[in-house]
Amino acid sequence: MFSRYKKPGGSPQTPAPSASPEKAEPAAQLNRKPVAAAKPMQAAKAAPADKEKKRKERLGEIKVELHKRLLDNLNLAALETASAQDLRQEIVAISAEALEELSVVLNKDERATLHQELFDEVTGLGPLEPLLKDESVNDILVNGPQQIFVERAGKLQLTDVHFKDERHLLRIIDKIVSAVGRRVDESNPYVDARLGDGSRFNAMVPPIAVDGSLVSIRKFKKDKLGVDDLVKFGAFTEEMAAYLQAAVACRLNVIVSGGTGSGKTTTLNALSSFIDNAERILTIEDTAELQLQQTHVGRMESRPANVEGRGAVSQRDCLKNALRMRPDRIIVGETRGEEVIDMLQAMNTGHDGSMTTIHANSARDAVSRLENMIAMAGIEMPLKAVRSQIASAVNLIVQASRLQDGSRRMVSITEVTGMEGEVISMQEVFRYERLGLAPDNKIIGRFNATGVRSYYSERFKQWGYDLPASIYEPIAAE
Ligand SMILES: Nc1ncnc2c1ncn2[C@@H]1O[C@H](COP(=O)(O)OP(=O)(O)OP(=O)(O)O)[C@@H](O)[C@H]1O
Ligand SMILES: [Mg+2]
Repeated sequence: MFSRYKKPGGSPQTPAPSASPEKAEPAAQLNRKPVAAAKPMQAAKAAPADKEKKRKERLGEIKVELHKRLLDNLNLAALETASAQDLRQEIVAISAEALEELSVVLNKDERATLHQELFDEVTGLGPLEPLLKDESVNDILVNGPQQIFVERAGKLQLTDVHFKDERHLLRIIDKIVSAVGRRVDESNPYVDARLGDGSRFNAMVPPIAVDGSLVSIRKFKKDKLGVDDLVKFGAFTEEMAAYLQAAVACRLNVIVSGGTGSGKTTTLNALSSFIDNAERILTIEDTAELQLQQTHVGRMESRPANVEGRGAVSQRDCLKNALRMRPDRIIVGETRGEEVIDMLQAMNTGHDGSMTTIHANSARDAVSRLENMIAMAGIEMPLKAVRSQIASAVNLIVQASRLQDGSRRMVSITEVTGMEGEVISMQEVFRYERLGLAPDNKIIGRFNATGVRSYYSERFKQWGYDLPASIYEPIAAE
C-alpha cells in the first residue's frame, strides 16, 4: 500500500515527488482497492502483510514526528481550556504544514486516522483510545509497550495496537495518574486511578514490572447489565431471578462471591435493582462502579494516601461513618480487608439487606475468606465465635463464575442456615450443572434446583413473596 511513496525503483523511505499529489492520489486509490478485493487470498500472504507492516511503521514514524511538532507548537496550558473543535483545527493545521514539509502525501482516510490518533494522543490515552471506545471490549490489559490484550465476551485476544516504546507508554500512564493527583515512578511503582469515563485503571511500572509497564483497565459500562439482560445471556434463570428478588426485597444479607472478572460487581448491581425505591442506600467502593437506580443513594469512594503518605480514607473509615448516616442498607463494592468486621456488624445490627462481594471460588471458600479477613484484621476471637458471627450475619451467598468458554454464570446459590457445632451450615438451592462440551468448546449445561426448599420461604411468604414450590423442584437427569 505504501508503494506510492516510493520513487519508481527507489527506496521505501523516499517520499514521492510532491508535484500534483492530489491528482495522482485518487487514481492510486481507485487502483488499489479492487485489486485487493478481487484476489484476497491469491497473492503470497507474506507480501501484503509485510507491506501493511511497513505502512504502519511509516505511519507510526510520521505520527511521532507530528506529535513532536504538535507539542512544540501547541500551547499546552491553553490546551486545557481549548474546546475539542479548536484542538482538532489546530491539529489539522499543524499536521498539514508538517506533511507538506516532509513531502508526505496521505489519502483522506489516512489523514483522518492520523488526526484522530494525534487528538487521542494529546487529550486521551493515545493508542488505547479506540479500545476504550469499542463497546465490545470489557478489559484492556497492557503488558509492556508491544503487547496489548483485550477481553471480549469473556475471552482474551491479542490486539495489533501498540505503543511506540516504553517511554510512550509511561507518558500516557503519567498523564492519567497525574490527572488524579497521583504519581507513579520508581519509588511509587504502582497506582490505582479512575479514568474520566469511570473506568477502573491500575498501572505498575518498571523495575517492579519486569518487561515494561503493566496496565489493566476495567471499562466502565454506562448501561450496566440488568437482571433481564443477565437472564437473557444465560447468567441465571428466571426462577433464580424470582428467588433473588424475594431474597433482596426481604432484606437478606447477600454476598456475591467469585473470581476476578467473574461478574461480581455486575451481579451486585443487578441485584440492587430489587431494593425498594423508598430505602436509603449507602454504597462504599474503592472505585465507584455501582450504578444504583434508586432515588435515595449516597455514594462513597475510598481514597489512598497522597504522595506525602497522608489523607488516606479507607473503606473501613467510610463504613464506620456510613453507620452514622442512617442507612437502610449498606452496599460495599468488595470486602477485602479490615472493613469485614464492620460489614458483618452492620449486617447483624439493623442494616439487614446489606450486600457485598468477595473474592472466592465457592460458598464455603467465601466463608473461609471471611474468617481469614477477620483474623488478619487482628481481631482475637475464638474461631467458633467468629463463625457464629458470620453465620448470623450472612444469609445468602451467590457464586459468580467465568467458565472456560468465556461465559459468565451464577453457578450456585447457597443459603447460610446457622451453626452445627463448630461448623457453619449451608444449603445449596440452585446450581449450574455441566453436562458436556460442544465441538466449538462451548460448555453444555443447565441450571437446576437442588430440591431443597428455601430456609427463608416462610419469611418470603410473610413479606408477600409467595414463590411457587415448583421453582425448588429439580429437573430429573436424562
Ligand atoms: N453474565 C454476563 N454476561 C456477559 N458479560 C458479563 C456478564 N457479567 C459480567 N459481564 C461483563 O464482564 C466484565 C467483568 O464484570 P465485573 O466487573 O462485574 O466483574 P468482577 O467480578 O466485579 O471483576 P473484578 O474482580 O475485577 O472486580 C464487565 O465488563 C461486565 O460487563
Ligand atoms: Mg468488581
